Amino acid sequence: MKVTPLAPHISKLADTLAPALIKIRHHLHQYPEPGRQEKETTAYLIHQLEPFNLQLTTHYVETGFWADLQIQPDAPFLALRCDIDALPIAEKNEIPYASKNEGVMHACGHDAHAAVLSGAAMVLSRLKSELTGNVRFIFQPAEEITPGGALDMIERGVLEGVEAILTLHSDPRIEVGKVGFKFGPFMASTDIFKIQIFGKGAHAANPHKSIDPIMIAAQLINSLHQVISREINPVTPAVITVTRILAGTTINVIPGEAEIWGTLRALDKSTRTFLQNRLREVTASLCEMHHAQSELTLDKGAPPVVNDDALCQIVRNATAEILGESHVKILVEPDMGAEDFAWYLQTVPGMIFRLGTKGRPGSEFELHHPNFDIDDRALAVGVKVFCMSVFKYFEGKEEPQSK
Ligand code: NI
Repeated sequence: MKVTPLAPHISKLADTLAPALIKIRHHLHQYPEPGRQEKETTAYLIHQLEPFNLQLTTHYVETGFWADLQIQPDAPFLALRCDIDALPIAEKNEIPYASKNEGVMHACGHDAHAAVLSGAAMVLSRLKSELTGNVRFIFQPAEEITPGGALDMIERGVLEGVEAILTLHSDPRIEVGKVGFKFGPFMASTDIFKIQIFGKGAHAANPHKSIDPIMIAAQLINSLHQVISREINPVTPAVITVTRILAGTTINVIPGEAEIWGTLRALDKSTRTFLQNRLREVTASLCEMHHAQSELTLDKGAPPVVNDDALCQIVRNATAEILGESHVKILVEPDMGAEDFAWYLQTVPGMIFRLGTKGRPGSEFELHHPNFDIDDRALAVGVKVFCMSVFKYFEGKEEPQSK
C-alpha cells in the first residue's frame, strides 16, 4: 500500500476537524472530573464518537471505555490510548472555558489528550478504506491515582488482541507544533510509603524518660537521603523524597508517635527493588537502635515507562513525514515523573510521545499548576502524529509478509 500520499490527506482532515476538537477540549476543561468519577466525561466522549460507527466497549458502573475500528476480523489491534481524568486543583485561569466544577481542574492536559484521541478516531474512521489493520482507541480513567486506571482497563480486557500501544502526553516545555521523543527508559517507577514510628512520650524537660520519635524521624530522613548519595551509583537516576512529616501537638511535650510519608522513584527494576529494600532495612534498624517500634506501609505504584525503540522510531518517522523533520525533538534526559501507561507495557510493547503545547501567552505553566493550559493548535498536531503513526505501523508489518 502506498502511504506517502496519505500525509497531506491526513493533515487536511485533521486541520478541518481542529475547530470541533477545540470545542471538545474546552467542554472537557469546563467540566473536569477526578479519577474514577469521569461519568459525564465518558458519556460526552461516547456521544462525540457515536456517528463514526466504532465498536464500543463500555462498562456501566465504571468510567472510561474503548472504541474499536476493526478492519480484519481476528487480526491484532494497534492501540492508541489517552487518559481522561482531572486533578483536585482549583483552577486560577480566567478563561471562558474555565472549570465549573469547584476544586477540580484539567491541570495535566488530559482534556487535550481525550480531544486528540477523539480526533484520531474520527480521521481514521474516514480513512477506513485505506487501513490495513485494526485500531483500538482507549479512553482510560484515573491516571492520576495510585494504583492507576490502566490496571482497571487491563482487568476489563482492554489488551486482549492488542499487539502494540501508543500514547501521548502534553508538554508545556516543548513549543506547539513540535513532538518530543525519548528512546528507551523514559519515566520512573513510583512507590509511595508511610512510616509510623512508635516511641514513648514524656515531658519536654525529661527527654531521658522518652523514646523521642521526632529525633528518630529526623535521623531517619537523613539516613534515607544517604542511601541515594552513598549507595546508588551517581550516574543512576534514583529519588527518595519525604513529602510529609507529622508529630506532636504542643511545645512542651515529646509525643509518642511520628509519621513520615514519601515517594521512591527509579528508572529500572533493580534500582527500584534496592530502594524498597533499603527503605525497609534502614527504617527497621534505626528504630530498633533507639528502642522504638516502626511500621512501614509501602504501596507499589506503576513500574518505569520504557519506550520500545522500534515503535519510537516508527512514530518519530511518521512525525517527520507529516510535520517535517524540524518538528521532531529528540529528548535526551528521562523524566522522574511517573505514568500509569507503564502497566500496559508489562504486557505489550509501546511508546509515549510528548506533544508540545507551549505557544500563546498562558500556555507556559508547568503541569499540575493552577494556571496550566495548552495552546489549542497542539490538538491537530497530535491527531496527525497518531494517524500517520498508525499507517506507518501497518506499512512496516506489510513488508515482511509480502516476501
Ligand atoms: Ni498527566
